[in-house]
Amino acid sequence: MTMRTNYCGRLSVDDIGKTVTVCGWVSKRREHGEFLAFVDLRDRTGIIQCVVDHAHDIRSEYVLAVTGVVRERPPETVNDELPTGSIEIGEATVEVLSKAEPPPFQISGRVEVDETIRIRHRYLDLRTGRMQRNLRSRALINSAIRRSMDAQEFVEVETPMLIASTPEGARDFVVPSRLSPGNFYALPQSPQLFKQLCMVGGIDRYYQIARCMRDEDLRADRQFEFTQLDMEMSFVDGDEVRAVVSEAVSEAAESITGQRPGVIPEISWHEAMNRYGSDKPDVRFGLELVELTDVFSDTEFNAFKASCIKGIKVPQGADIGRNQLDQLTDKAKSWGAKGLVWLKVGESGEVNSPVAKFMSEQEISDLLAAMKAEQGDICYIVADDWRRAVHVLGLLRLELGKPPVNEGGFHFLWVVDFPLFEDVDSEGNPVPAHHPFTMPHEEDLGLLQDTANPNDLLQVRSQAYDLVLNGWELGSGSVRIHRRDIQQQIFDLLGIGEEESQKKFGFLMDAFRYGAPPHAGFAFGIDRLVALLVGEENIREVIAFPKSQSGSDPLTEAPTPIDQTQLDELGLRVLPPAT
Ligand code: AMO
Ligand code: AMP
Repeated sequence: MTMRTNYCGRLSVDDIGKTVTVCGWVSKRREHGEFLAFVDLRDRTGIIQCVVDHAHDIRSEYVLAVTGVVRERPPETVNDELPTGSIEIGEATVEVLSKAEPPPFQISGRVEVDETIRIRHRYLDLRTGRMQRNLRSRALINSAIRRSMDAQEFVEVETPMLIASTPEGARDFVVPSRLSPGNFYALPQSPQLFKQLCMVGGIDRYYQIARCMRDEDLRADRQFEFTQLDMEMSFVDGDEVRAVVSEAVSEAAESITGQRPGVIPEISWHEAMNRYGSDKPDVRFGLELVELTDVFSDTEFNAFKASCIKGIKVPQGADIGRNQLDQLTDKAKSWGAKGLVWLKVGESGEVNSPVAKFMSEQEISDLLAAMKAEQGDICYIVADDWRRAVHVLGLLRLELGKPPVNEGGFHFLWVVDFPLFEDVDSEGNPVPAHHPFTMPHEEDLGLLQDTANPNDLLQVRSQAYDLVLNGWELGSGSVRIHRRDIQQQIFDLLGIGEEESQKKFGFLMDAFRYGAPPHAGFAFGIDRLVALLVGEENIREVIAFPKSQSGSDPLTEAPTPIDQTQLDELGLRVLPPAT
């Protein structure tokens, strides 16, 4: 085989006159008369045009070694869209290293291809500029994160993949044990418990680029398998954790955009919900929620006799048609609203709304003042309890204003002071907003003891925080409980009795007997960070070998049955599928 001397995309005018050998795949070939042909050869660095004397036996995606002399292209053939567009390899001889069948989809150019076909032939998809760029960006981000964590004196520790269950709230993937038939390992949903044990073990600053597995419904920002930057620190508070993580994501962002994001702002969960109707606000755009409860405190309008009224104003949005308004109303209802009021401000300041007749003049003028509404604007209003009103308006805000993924820059945001519990389940047990190892806010510890009403527990703040980027939850973390008594109290509140907690987390509770340092940590999803930084809407685009929407792998056809011997060895019997 002829040995490569140069990469295609790295040739430049400086190489004119040199004899070179490049290797790669045929991106395109064009015959020019009988004795001349152009072959665009592609490798991981780019494309170079090669002029060969015939190309009858060369097809797309053949693998070639091409040897020839680098020369300037005639002016009329210069291609400004190609970095190597002013040169070519002339007098080229071709060695075919490997033939190729016609690929199932076109690899060069921006052709829409069905995703299942792309994943089925991922090795071909990986040749596309898009996937090459995305995977390279991912590698850059990983190495930037490592650099940053190493510089901040974190120790990379690998934690096990075959473990007992971790409580991150999703279903476990389980692995049957051969040596202990009838018993199962769980694959880690995160290294949570092990990193806390590392703190008891005196590691002080732990990190890991950790693979995590969760059996949950797949979405644009969710795969079964994903990667976290996972970290934990001892003797610190949440501020210090956030400073470390801010540094790591800034370094990661800079590795792609060339620019460091400024100081990452913080907002409380409550303020985020009030202003954006979301615990992961997309702050690339305005359309903030406006408080209107007081405006309608004495209203005669039945629909507005509610504990919370809020609205959103769309500047110059009054030209929206009736059909679209009806559709928005239907959407609001599907999100749980009882209805949606809209009110337009006309050219001469007159208001137009099907329910204006139920409002007093004072209410209308106070409403317009509160919303700072002017001619041509439209206001949308929802009345409900606080949770539902902000929830619906938060979704409406996204519907009305969310920019495409690759517009508006990168707006990181810390959301702090999450509630400890997000809800109360049907049995009256509070549901933890993060995992059950999250430390309540010091000031709210009393509330945990005193309250008889589970709904009061929803007021308890935790020392949990999220990192948000452009409306995506990038990561979560918290100050942990390091005292057995408080941990047991939380388990009790969650309805996890002593026996169950001993069975599931006994090893952690035991470890806490032997001197647990106060500790806190965080984990963010690297797939999500990479997707946003490269402008992709689905994390599959930044994963080399992802699962399809249905959770299967069209390439290897996993999941597949295993044979009887394997089943026997594992002591497993497969039941026929339920009909
Ligand atoms: P959490 O469960 O919030 O916290 O996960 C942290 C981050 O991991 C990413 N992530 C996912 N990415 C892709 N596909 C998934 N299925 C998926 N699930 C989660 C998200 C998420 O924000 N142990 C805690 C962290 C801690 O407290 O230190 C944890 O795992 O970006
Ligand atoms: P109704 O009195 O239910 O016929 O509703 C009159 C108008 O008020 C309709 O346009 C509804 O969409 C709207 N509406 C009803 N309930 C609410 C609510 N809770 N918040 C906002 N708009 C509402």
